[in-house]
Amino acid sequence: AVRKPWIGGNWKCNGTRASVEALITSLNAATLPAPEAADIVISPPYLFLETVQARIRPEVHVAAQDCNAKGMGAYTGSISAEMLHEFGINTVILGHSERRDIFHETSEEVALKCKKALSLGLDIVPCIGEHREERLSGRTNEICFAQLAALAAQITDWSHVVVAYEPVWAIGTGLVATPAQAQETHAALRGWFREHVSAEVANTIRIVYGGSVSGANSAELARCPDVDGFLVGGASLKPEFAAICQNMA
Ligand code: G3H
Repeated sequence: AVRKPWIGGNWKCNGTRASVEALITSLNAATLPAPEAADIVISPPYLFLETVQARIRPEVHVAAQDCNAKGMGAYTGSISAEMLHEFGINTVILGHSERRDIFHETSEEVALKCKKALSLGLDIVPCIGEHREERLSGRTNEICFAQLAALAAQITDWSHVVVAYEPVWAIGTGLVATPAQAQETHAALRGWFREHVSAEVANTIRIVYGGSVSGANSAELARCPDVDGFLVGGASLKPEFAAICQNMA
């Protein structure tokens, strides 16, 4: 691969003490790509971050699923990037479509969270992607480019950014994008970086695909030249996640 593969497991709002324990045990015993061959990051809910960080094999990184743009203060219910930093959580997923759609986060708010997390030295995984109607009406690129433009208004250094392209219609539905659909959009996103940021960033930034990735479909998606990895939801809660990592590396 031109770029180092990146595979993330987004556990979303799932986990009991027992299931997290079982998942850690299974991942610690699994055959995974060597750390030189791929970056592997798992993202449990906040309450489990410390346990997972302490117990998971050291080559697997741990990410949070969100943080606020504000910092410490009177922000009931939220977690700051400063806290993640203090706990040694060096990566954060931001602007997942579930944050945008269910919790009404705008692209501008997501971009401010990205800026804040980067200012603390965290790696960020901003998520973008179109809804089903937008794809059907031929607006995929327009929607994704607008989401990227909002990020670019706040981000100048892209070296700590992995972009997750997650078509909303493919998330949790079993309706995975075809390799051709994924490749076409990933190439368009890279083209956007070439035009609006720089050729250097376009060539080096990792753009990963998310949406119903499985052990079965990941090998074919991994062969797309502009797909640099995956952000896996449902399958990251199963032993299948190790197979997906192997298929990507
Ligand atoms: O962040 C992960 C994505 O939302 C994909 O979820 O693999 O369950 O479709 P999924």
